[in-house]
Amino acid sequence: MENIEDLQNRLLAEIAAAADLKALDETRVAALGKKGCITEKMKGLGALPVEEKIAAGKKLNLLKTAVENAVEKRKNELETLELNRRLAEESIDVTLPVRPETQGRIHPVSKIYEEVVAIFGEMGFEVAEGPDIEDQFHNFNALNMPADHPARQMQDTFYIPNPDSADFDDSYVVRTHTSPVQIRTMENKKPPIRIIAPGRTYRSDYDATHTPMFHQVEGLVIDKTTTMAHLKGCLYDFVRAFFEVDNIKVRYRPSYFPFTEPSAEMDIGCKKGKDELKIGEGNDWLEILGCGMVHPKVLAAGGIDPDEYQGFAFGVGLDRLAMLKYGIPDLRTFFESDLRWLKHYGFVPLDESSMTGGLSNNGGLAR
Ligand code: PHE
Repeated sequence: MENIEDLQNRLLAEIAAAADLKALDETRVAALGKKGCITEKMKGLGALPVEEKIAAGKKLNLLKTAVENAVEKRKNELETLELNRRLAEESIDVTLPVRPETQGRIHPVSKIYEEVVAIFGEMGFEVAEGPDIEDQFHNFNALNMPADHPARQMQDTFYIPNPDSADFDDSYVVRTHTSPVQIRTMENKKPPIRIIAPGRTYRSDYDATHTPMFHQVEGLVIDKTTTMAHLKGCLYDFVRAFFEVDNIKVRYRPSYFPFTEPSAEMDIGCKKGKDELKIGEGNDWLEILGCGMVHPKVLAAGGIDPDEYQGFAFGVGLDRLAMLKYGIPDLRTFFESDLRWLKHYGFVPLDESSMTGGLSNNGGLAR
């Protein structure tokens, strides 16, 4: 029979030669398992005379420990080898461009939408939404434009018949602006309110700077001490961040909207050349948005006490912002779904807009 020394040499050699964890475990079981050779030898001790039993038991215990240690050592070695193999095999070249085959492009309006949400999100605004098909109460009446109000003619409205009523006042509209979301927000939320509402809007109009469907972002802030100074600071910060011009010039001109009092329009400084437009410097002005302090009647229509609360609102044309920022001359091309146009003016999908990572990522322009 194999003596203990030979057995130890054989087992240690087998363990050292085990090619993988499975082979190692088989060797371990063959030695130390229930029916393993060392276990069998241990069982055999009982039959020996006492003197021999002590000496043989000692030797077997030493053998067992030596085998256990060897198994543990080989196991660590094999695990390290396996890890190194995986690290080598699964290594990635981080200098490779990300999905160079990407064909799709983000539409400039979607890009501007993300940029605007990123800027106002940073300032603590939430995004609110409302339906495209509105009733006249939310689109007009609650915004201080009753049925006979001349301001209704300011907007060329598309009306939609109401199947349940022949009365024209009950007909629906496709919203002419995002301002009805002001009312819907007031109806559902208690002040303090700080929301922007981006979305589609519709008017019967069609030329190089007007399309029947276009996009706006509404802004609404209501609190007990909100003032015109807050409006000015907030919108100044917005245009600075949006056009990425730190010392951009702005001015506010008095204006009229039925739902704000006082009302203003905001212009940004620019230089209009023959074929180019430079934003932020020069002696020309570009109108970019309408704004004002929310009219007390509008607060009341939204269920908010105008004696306790006040606030400001603004409305910006998203498409117009896209035209200005990215130098796109004709608004109608936005909605023609021409792939060549989208390839030229669109954005690489993986460049997300954020205030910290960069807003427009001009490097991501497909051009
Ligand atoms: N709703 C206005 C428009 O479409 C813009 C606006 C919104 C003006 C909010 C003032 C306050 O022209």
